[in-house]
Amino acid sequence: MPTDPRGLRGDAPLLDAWLRFQERPPTPFTIPGHKQRTDLVGDVVAGDVPLYAGLDTMKLATGVLAEAEARAARLWGADVCRFSTGGATHANQAVALAVAGDGGRVVVSRTLHRSLLLGLVLAGLTPVWVRPEVDPATGLPLGVAPGTVRRALADHPDARAVFVGDPSYVGTVGDVAGLADAAHEHGVPLVVDAAWAAHFGFHPDLPRHPLQLGADVMVTSAHKALPAWSQAALVLARTERVDAARLDAGVEATGTTSPAGAILASTDAARALLERDGAALLGEAITATREARRRLAGVDGLTVLDGPGVDPLKLTLVLAGTGADGNAVERDLLAAGLPVESADRDVLVAVVSLADTAETLDALATAVADSLGRHRGTPRAVATPAAYRVAPVAAVPPRPAFFAATETVPVARAVGRIGAELVAPYPPGIPVLAPGELVTAEALAALEQARGAGVRIAYAADPSLRTLRVLAV
Ligand SMILES: Cc1ncc(COP(=O)(O)O)c(C=O)c1O
Repeated sequence: MPTDPRGLRGDAPLLDAWLRFQERPPTPFTIPGHKQRTDLVGDVVAGDVPLYAGLDTMKLATGVLAEAEARAARLWGADVCRFSTGGATHANQAVALAVAGDGGRVVVSRTLHRSLLLGLVLAGLTPVWVRPEVDPATGLPLGVAPGTVRRALADHPDARAVFVGDPSYVGTVGDVAGLADAAHEHGVPLVVDAAWAAHFGFHPDLPRHPLQLGADVMVTSAHKALPAWSQAALVLARTERVDAARLDAGVEATGTTSPAGAILASTDAARALLERDGAALLGEAITATREARRRLAGVDGLTVLDGPGVDPLKLTLVLAGTGADGNAVERDLLAAGLPVESADRDVLVAVVSLADTAETLDALATAVADSLGRHRGTPRAVATPAAYRVAPVAAVPPRPAFFAATETVPVARAVGRIGAELVAPYPPGIPVLAPGELVTAEALAALEQARGAGVRIAYAADPSLRTLRVLAV
């Protein structure tokens, strides 16, 4: 029988509905086709309860989803909240559809996740790129400076919104309050892709979350920083500068009509847990991560990102000074059963959540230190990853480029042509080339270098990068 070990169901209507379904299983003549039988394909479908004719009736008579979303909106101080079973990917695309019209211009941080770039394609938006400052000591991005956004808005007075990703993939935190001021002075909303920051604002040692800092919309993945099912995400918005009905329409347009109830119920349960026990659980994880940081900072040559501009729960390690290859360290960590979020030659990123403990962090710190001891070499100069280094050269807006006639050419002949593809080292999935951008020798060299450093080059039709799809002439 399913359990509710922390007694959250009284404050989590979707969790309660999911538990009630399990406690009194019906004989459903509805989807899903497994009909709750686990003797056909096994436990892989266990707990898969739909929203429609599952957590609620097919006619949504009880309104449990709306009630759960209202509770999340209250907790984050938003006017509206929508749950998503399509990840922050879906949420970003829904927001892109909500904030501006076909052909409209928006200011966008170039360290955007690919999902937002495809959101620009879907909504037909033209980006004005802004780039974050890069820390020369680590080669990693800081936030986008408010002054950069102010200049972009002054140069493009027709811009309708500002989109930034904050915190960055490596956990650096920007001046979101300053960005909100810059956007609002121009009368446009600030949208923050805070996919990694569902825990922000719920412990005094954590940065405040984007809505607390004045942002109009915040997208976050409940499955990243909170104990929710994969794909669980939230869109939280204030409606002064964003039309709630348009946001709803965007969410519905790009979402499935068969949302998985377990994902929704876990989002609701994670929200209830965060509200009641979040500070205590986060406090334990922060203390354990602080200790791991302290130990790792003592490893000769290793740089451990730290300080007020860094998410305390993102453990990002810069290896250049150790001379070790992060891919070799990752292999050791995998062999020890300790997979990390991202590893390439120079940088390791470990995601910590409130589910971690002093034991898990101790195991990670010990394994990293041991592995670095084995793979230590001649220190290298710090390198800035391709995604943060290459300046895009826009030629055609993303949407017409996405739908244009294309041809495939050998990569050497692609330089100077307009690219049709999105090409991104993954992780972090930040595009180095986007549809409609000039293919430059700099971009290709940076991608090649990333591949050489052990990074997977994602989304290109030819992942070997021997050929590239470009706009036909
Ligand atoms: C900044 C950012 N936004 C959005 C996403 C997409 O999130 P999801 O995997 O929940 O769709 C990611 C994924 O890594 C991300 O890093």
